[in-house]
Amino acid sequence: MQPDYKPPPAEIISFVSGKGGVGKTTLVSNIGIALVKRFKKKVLVVDTCFSSPTLGLHLGILYPSSTIHDILENRVPVEEAIYAHSSGLHIMPASLSAKRGEVDYNRLRAKLSQVADNYDYILLDGSAGVDEETKATIKASDRVVVVTNPDIPAITSAIKVLETIKDFGIDIAGIILNKIRGSEYEATAREIEGSTDEKLIGTIRYDRLVPESISSSTPVVLYSPESDPSVSMIKIASAITGLPFTLPSRSIVSTLVESILGRKEKRERPSMEKIVRHLGEEAQKLPTAQKKEPVEVVYDDETKTAIEGVRKVIHALEDEYKEGILSAESYRELRKYNNEKLKAFLAKGIPIYEKPPAPGEPEAAEIEQPKSDMIKQLLDSLKEQYEGGILSEEDFKHLRAQALSVPHPSSTEQPEPKKKHHKRKKKKKHKPAYHAKRRR
Ligand SMILES: Nc1ncnc2c1ncn2[C@@H]1O[C@H](COP(=O)(O)OP(=O)(O)O)[C@@H](O)[C@H]1O
Ligand SMILES: [Mg+2]
Repeated sequence: MQPDYKPPPAEIISFVSGKGGVGKTTLVSNIGIALVKRFKKKVLVVDTCFSSPTLGLHLGILYPSSTIHDILENRVPVEEAIYAHSSGLHIMPASLSAKRGEVDYNRLRAKLSQVADNYDYILLDGSAGVDEETKATIKASDRVVVVTNPDIPAITSAIKVLETIKDFGIDIAGIILNKIRGSEYEATAREIEGSTDEKLIGTIRYDRLVPESISSSTPVVLYSPESDPSVSMIKIASAITGLPFTLPSRSIVSTLVESILGRKEKRERPSMEKIVRHLGEEAQKLPTAQKKEPVEVVYDDETKTAIEGVRKVIHALEDEYKEGILSAESYRELRKYNNEKLKAFLAKGIPIYEKPPAPGEPEAAEIEQPKSDMIKQLLDSLKEQYEGGILSEEDFKHLRAQALSVPHPSSTEQPEPKKKHHKRKKKKKHKPAYHAKRRR
């Protein structure tokens, strides 16, 4: 290598969509980390969803002191708004409080060019639709990825975005189809390619692990590296960049162990129906009353205090994690332990299915109590299979979540609602990575 060798500047790849909520930010954060961790690339991800940014939230950067907004307004040098994630990924967040049209988006490419030599890829997390924000993102890109879900409105609006990209003469990397549930009403890969005239370069199934991972600000490729959505993300990172795809190393190890032990675990995830069938035909005939939501769930005073106590502990854990006092690993473990505790207390509630009749009104017909025993039996069996090594942790988690999502008396056994970051009392300003550790 010659002494004055300079790597080529980063390729700028943006992710846009017609409809919002299709998974652009999820993809950018996960693909960014996959490129860093699995493909050993230097990557910067930039939030160019200027009026509704969330990339920082996905990656645990909540209160950045400088943002892309400051850069576009020439308030700070570009490096000031670059932050380092623990994975090695670099992030340029946007201001959560900025309003639409407040900055000159057209400076975007020029500003990014100033740091392009430091990276192999710069990924832009764009916005939905074909407004000025999206146009600015597209114009700043070398290639554009269009993200959609398999429903007609999402695909129709994706076609409009594709037309805009073509009008600008920017290369289209292809389409990513996310949140596939496999229902008969969904558009197929072939239909999507047929109606858009573009290549489908990746698919991701709907998976509860994705929102679960986001709720702990840990992208799923780190949260559950061997899970289906993680493997899909890595494959997509490979498809977009052309870098050869390798399976996560632990998968190879577990495949080897399985082949030595002779216990072949099915790659296909067992369906809820199959498990239910194992537990007896009766279990399938869940009474219709089970589908009814309770109007209220009541708790005795002791349980109520216990629930409040555990919730406080969970909030304290969230704060400590955000403030860097707890490591991601300890946080996950403690969070899991307290979640289980909370669920156990919530399960003690007594569901009330009908409001008491008003004075003078006839008493409502008694409603059949749901067979909550059936769910309990199912959960016990899943736990047994997990502890006995028959079910993997991932399958156990997935099936347990499915079992808990069947409406039953303890419908309060749902996962905790997402924490509201903006309500946090203590704000932690993140320092730009640039000062701490300048790359190259
Ligand atoms: N494959 C998936 N399975 C389940 N939920 C998903 C998946 N991809 C994204 N989501 C969820 O969809 C929501 C919107 O995703 P996001 O990445 O913020 O979309 P966008 O950036 O396009 O608006 C998030 O709550 C995320 O958890
Ligand atoms: Mg987004």
